Amino acid sequence: MIVGDVDYGVHGEGYATQRRTGPRIARYITEALGGAKTVLNVGAGAGSYEPADPCVVTVERSAAMRRQRHAAAVPAIDASAEHLPFGDASFDAAMATVTVHQWSDIDQGLRELRRVARGPVIVLTFDGDALDRFWLRDYVSELTSVERARLPAIDRIVSGLGGSGRITGVIPIPIDCVDGFADAFYARPEAFLDEAMRRSQSAWTFLPAGIEQRFVETLADDLRSGTWDREYGEWRTRPSFEGALRLIVSRPA
Ligand SMILES: C[S@@+](CC[C@H](N)C(=O)[O-])C[C@H]1O[C@@H](n2cnc3c(N)ncnc32)[C@H](O)[C@@H]1O
Repeated sequence: MIVGDVDYGVHGEGYATQRRTGPRIARYITEALGGAKTVLNVGAGAGSYEPADPCVVTVERSAAMRRQRHAAAVPAIDASAEHLPFGDASFDAAMATVTVHQWSDIDQGLRELRRVARGPVIVLTFDGDALDRFWLRDYVSELTSVERARLPAIDRIVSGLGGSGRITGVIPIPIDCVDGFADAFYARPEAFLDEAMRRSQSAWTFLPAGIEQRFVETLADDLRSGTWDREYGEWRTRPSFEGALRLIVSRPA
């Protein structure tokens, strides 16, 4: 079943292993949730970033992703972000991590998040304008272009949420980030040679034929020959990277 622009039945295998809660990123979400006791997580996937303490209700459209939910995670309800089956102000807070770019109607989904939350609405996403901040773009600019076209502008998310929306600024990505989105591997170029890692990043599935293979071959050659290290080696030791990851927090007007 295709949800948004991705068929997780085909491309979602192994997602839960590759894409896990990054604890230092999660701290920003926990702080933004404040004292929320009831939280709705929309586009929940396998359960990354779901807080452990408050009572969490989750919505996830893809059956393949619902099946991958972590053992400790609550089962997800089959519903769409655009039509949440809850009354107004049902939850203390609502959250959506790395999912809004896949919604068929982003504005409607954002309105729904705002409608069902009494308190903060939190969106973790990527800023398309900041995708070119590391070396990957030099190897596969097509990937950057594809992702940029999919990601809604940050301003659009802020205004779509209404209320007093604000961007908390750039969320730094730690050198050992365990959530396997592309920027997370800024210091570990060898990771991009791992097909399972790339499969958990939907952007690769949108590339024209041959581009991904060309990228893998070129990067492998450059790592073998030392070209990558000569050109970009300083990336290996940067303790963190201020890339494209953003947290948007909206509070009621
Ligand atoms: C990239 S995954 C992120 C999952 C999880 N939130 C995370 O941070 O790892 C995006 C998820 O959003 C779900 N999704 C996409 N469009 C949706 C929609 N309109 N309503 C509900 N879920 C949706 C997909 O099925 C997928 O599981």
